[in-house]
Parts: sequence; structure tokens; C-alpha cells
Amino acid sequence: MNLFNSINQRKSCRQYIDEPFSLAELEKIKEVIKSFEPLFPDVHLNYRFATETKGMFHVKAPHYLVISGKGEEGEQENAGFIGQQFMLWLNARGLGGVWLGASRDASKNRKSSDIIVIAFGKVEGSSNREESEFKRKDISEITNDTEDKGIKAIHLAPSGMNIQPWYFEKRAEKLLVYRQILKPPKSLVYKLTRVDMGIALCHYAVASWHYGADFDFQPGGSGPEKKGYEYFGHANIID
Ligand SMILES: Cc1cc2nc3c(=O)[nH]c(=O)nc-3n(C[C@H](O)[C@H](O)[C@H](O)COP(=O)(O)O)c2cc1C
Repeated sequence: MNLFNSINQRKSCRQYIDEPFSLAELEKIKEVIKSFEPLFPDVHLNYRFATETKGMFHVKAPHYLVISGKGEEGEQENAGFIGQQFMLWLNARGLGGVWLGASRDASKNRKSSDIIVIAFGKVEGSSNREESEFKRKDISEITNDTEDKGIKAIHLAPSGMNIQPWYFEKRAEKLLVYRQILKPPKSLVYKLTRVDMGIALCHYAVASWHYGADFDFQPGGSGPEKKGYEYFGHANIID
């Protein structure tokens, strides 16, 4: 399945047809999700489907995927990385999805270790848009190399409240990755920038694989300071 082509056409879908998948189809979808590459192979996540969820900015959909963990480090990033592969996979099949950062499982299955909800299903209308219709920061605000193929893919990545809390500094032999430290009032209402980083790195990974390069992200460590951001790690560059 070519996920790369979906990067520059997908959009968040908020209108769904009331035509749920069968249990067998949902089981197949779960197998597909489990087959996606993780960002951190040692950080394990659980996936379950829900039909009743609630929260602010909620979207009604036939299905919700709830990603949960155990409260360990790296889970949010992994959820973003794997969940975004699911989003691109949905788009490639003419289906749609939307991340729901403020929604919760409203059934008795809800857990305190639930990380994020994704609404998905068959969409009303198209799950695509033109590249010119993406609303994003100017690419020069998120990188020093506006022509880099991988960073162009990141530029179109979705993020909560469309904050795009990232910066990518291209150096000769590596890509330095930074996460924006939000300030109040945004920091009080939005806590999922680690999920966003996983999503951005997913787009970079999918572009790397598309162009025949390996994807290798090393989290943490120390890097040159950047005001308003924390150093998040480094990735290999795509030649
Ligand atoms: C972590 C995360 C949480 C989000 N939460 C919500 C939400 O609660 N409700 C909603 O309608 N959209 C939500 N979104 C979708 C964003 O608003 C959307 O991705 C962004 O505005 C960019 O638009 P696009 O996805 O159509 O390119 C969320 C996106 C992410 C990545």
C-alpha cells in the first residue's frame, strides 16, 4: 500500500456515512494497524474500537480507534507515528479519519492510560483536498531547508489545533528535530505535542521509504539550543 501519495491529498474528515464496517472488517483493520512500523519498537501500545466517545470538538463517526498504553515514556510519540500511518492508509482506500485529542471513550472500557482517539469510517464527500488547500505555516518557519523532500512531507502533517509544534534543522549529515514548548494559554488546553511529533516523524519516515532511504530516529541527547523549543532528537537525512 502506497502511503506516500496520501500525504499531499489527505484531510481531516468530519462527515461520515452511517455505514459501519462488519466485525470481520474491523478485525482486518486491527491487523493492519498492528503491522505498521513503530517509532520505538520497545514501547507497546494497545488498540481497541469504540462506538461511544465524547468530548470537546467531537466528531460523530461510525467507529473510533482508541490507542492506549501503560503511561510509559515514548507512548505518545509512538501513537502519533502509528496512528498517522493508519490515517494515510485510510486515505489510500478512499476512507477518512480525524484525530480527536479532546475525546474520550464514553463506555466502561475507558482507561486512564488511554492516549488518543481517532474517528474513522466511510466519508460523506471526498477524503481528499488539493495541495494548495492545506493551511500550514510558511515552510520557512519550520525549517532551514525549505527544499528538502522529507521536510516538505512534514510540512503537510496534521497536528492538534494545527499548531505544527516542530522545527527541523538540516545539517550536513543529520536532521535535528525540535519540539515547541507551548506557552499559556495554549499549553493549558493542549498537551499532545508529543503525539504531533510522532505524526511529523511518520510523514518523514514515509517520505524516506518512498525515496529509497532508511528512516532512523534517535530520540533525546543534546543539540544546539533553539529558543522556545526543546531538542527532541535527530534523524538521518534523505539524500
Ligand atoms: C493530536 C491531534 C488532535 C486533534 N484533535 C482534534 C479534535 O479534537 N477535533 C477535531 O475536529 N480535530 C482535531 N484534530 C485535527 C486538526 O484540527 C487538524 O489535523 C489540523 O487542523 C490540520 O487540518 P488537516 O488535518 O485537515 O490537514 C486533531 C489533530 C491532531 C493531530
